[in-house]
Amino acid sequence: MADTKIIAVAGATGAQGGGLTRAILADPSGGFAARALTRDGKSSKAQELAKQGAEVVTCDLDDAESVRRAYAGAHGAYCVTNYWEHFSPEKEMAQARAMAAAAKSTGLAHVIWSTLEDTRRWVPLSDDRMPTLMGKYKVPHFDSKGDANHVFTDAGVPTTFLLTSFYWDNLIHFGMGPKKGPDGKLAFTLPMGDKKLPGIAVDDIGRCAYGVFKRGGEYAGKTIGIAGEHLTGAQMAASLGKALGQEVRYNAVPFEAYRGFGFPGAEDLGNMFQFKHDFEDYYCGARSIALSRALNPALQTFDAWLAKNASRIPLA
Ligand SMILES: NC(=O)c1ccc[n+]([C@@H]2O[C@H](COP(=O)([O-])OP(=O)(O)OC[C@H]3O[C@@H](n4cnc5c(N)ncnc54)[C@H](OP(=O)(O)O)[C@@H]3O)[C@@H](O)[C@H]2O)c1
Repeated sequence: MADTKIIAVAGATGAQGGGLTRAILADPSGGFAARALTRDGKSSKAQELAKQGAEVVTCDLDDAESVRRAYAGAHGAYCVTNYWEHFSPEKEMAQARAMAAAAKSTGLAHVIWSTLEDTRRWVPLSDDRMPTLMGKYKVPHFDSKGDANHVFTDAGVPTTFLLTSFYWDNLIHFGMGPKKGPDGKLAFTLPMGDKKLPGIAVDDIGRCAYGVFKRGGEYAGKTIGIAGEHLTGAQMAASLGKALGQEVRYNAVPFEAYRGFGFPGAEDLGNMFQFKHDFEDYYCGARSIALSRALNPALQTFDAWLAKNASRIPLA
């Protein structure tokens, strides 16, 4: 259809972009088409998206010209960077610049930038409640995304700044599920004390983003935050226990202990959880469940997500 609006989706073979691509494909009469950007159009994930009806286009966010080519003729773009592939805030910034410049030069009507807070606005480098990392960040994978917001504004691109939440899918894919302790009982480790953590099923991020595109320019120039629920670690452990059919203890480790766990990114994540803990009111307030449900009526609760996914959480 000539008036079909093409959305160029970065990360289409991944979690956020994959959710958006599936949301667009699931609504063939919605007036939108999905252009899935990937570095490898031959990968099984890219091929699967093509089979489902997405236009697969090869693009490397490290190559600004390839981004411009991938955006040509599109209506909008979903922009997301994958910090965990390279651990480089500078690279995230360069990729954001490439997407913003391409969006401007190809005249996109609407872009969603998947962003997070620049935590240094709340915790300046001089605040020693948490260590400064890489010389100039508190939570590098947050700070770099928040810092890149201005790149889209400066370029004059109509942008929705989308504050996402902790994926519940991290319990499956990121090793964050409950683990058996020395007593043989399952423990869910999360350095959140008694504070609430906004969380979301990753597919719902994509559906919310689709809701934003469907509303036209209503959210252009605005920052919105999404979450499925705001839950304490104790509430999450209780839900996990019910879904798994065995007791799950909440292990509220201190931030210092989490930062010292030693896996790549542990300090970054320890600082991140401390930010979410120390600024709970702001952080939860910025992620509206009501707005998320308005954008995406299929929004899942943690219990609903667990009913479908608990068996996929590795417990070993
Ligand atoms: N885990 C969480 O709870 C959480 C919460 C909020 C935000 N985030 C943020 O989410 C981001 C990652 O998004 P995700 O979880 O959706 O990713 P993901 O599932 O890990 O997949 C990464 C995607 O990025 C694409 N990609 C990476 N580098 C690329 C490049 N140079 N050019 C083109 N495409 C590239 C990959 O595509 P190909 O390999 O096909 O090229 C793939 O589709 C991170 O920056 C993280 O900070 C995570």
